[in-house]
Amino acid sequence: MKNTTATTSITFIFLQHKRKKKKSHNKHSSNSFPGVNFAYYPDGTRLVVVDPNPHFKSYYNENRKKFPNIHSEEIIVTTGEEMDMVQSNSVDVVVSTLVFCSVENQKKILQQILRVLAPGGKFYFYEHISEFDIERHGTRRRIQEFLTATGIWPFIFDNCMLNKDMLADIQQAGFSKVQAQRFYSPIDHFVFQLVKPSLKGVAEK
Ligand SMILES: C[S@@+](CC[C@H](N)C(=O)[O-])C[C@H]1O[C@@H](n2cnc3c(N)ncnc32)[C@H](O)[C@@H]1O
Repeated sequence: MKNTTATTSITFIFLQHKRKKKKSHNKHSSNSFPGVNFAYYPDGTRLVVVDPNPHFKSYYNENRKKFPNIHSEEIIVTTGEEMDMVQSNSVDVVVSTLVFCSVENQKKILQQILRVLAPGGKFYFYEHISEFDIERHGTRRRIQEFLTATGIWPFIFDNCMLNKDMLADIQQAGFSKVQAQRFYSPIDHFVFQLVKPSLKGVAEK
């Protein structure tokens, strides 16, 4: 392990990493379509990217060219649940942003994340989740349930589900420490009010 700093804000950790350029060469495992997070990784980061969508590859290759300071390996086309080819205890940080809404088996993916993380390694997550304040936003919760149960939203948005919340599974997965916060992402677009409820945090192996 070289360095990582615990925080509950994924944006903040990236900025901190940027400031700590000297302590680089951390190995990160990430799902990062189409490389939107690259700007936040520290120089010298070695990146292992896992994504099951084969069409992702060309976007990823295009974007990684813009960040020669990050050593990103060939994308591994598989699901997080099946990333057996990533060695155990081999990465310092796992980053997941907007992925768990569409995974089939979140308990299994969490076990894989724990396995690949080195001791003391950190798992940073930022996900949209089901509405958590039913009293104030019950309508949003009902629309989320309807659009997910009918398959309309998953059909349009590549198997994305609006009614998930992964905090309990993260807390029960076996991490030594979990800091997390439910909050509302600052989204203005009318349709995407449905993905405003969010979860961000960090879990330590
Ligand atoms: C909404 S996109 C988010 C992409 C990117 N992480 C971001 O923050 O912009 C969801 C991504 O999760 C990927 N995905 C879906 N199921 C997955 C799984 N089981 N394991 C890993 N990635 C998965 C999809 O292929 C897609 O690239």
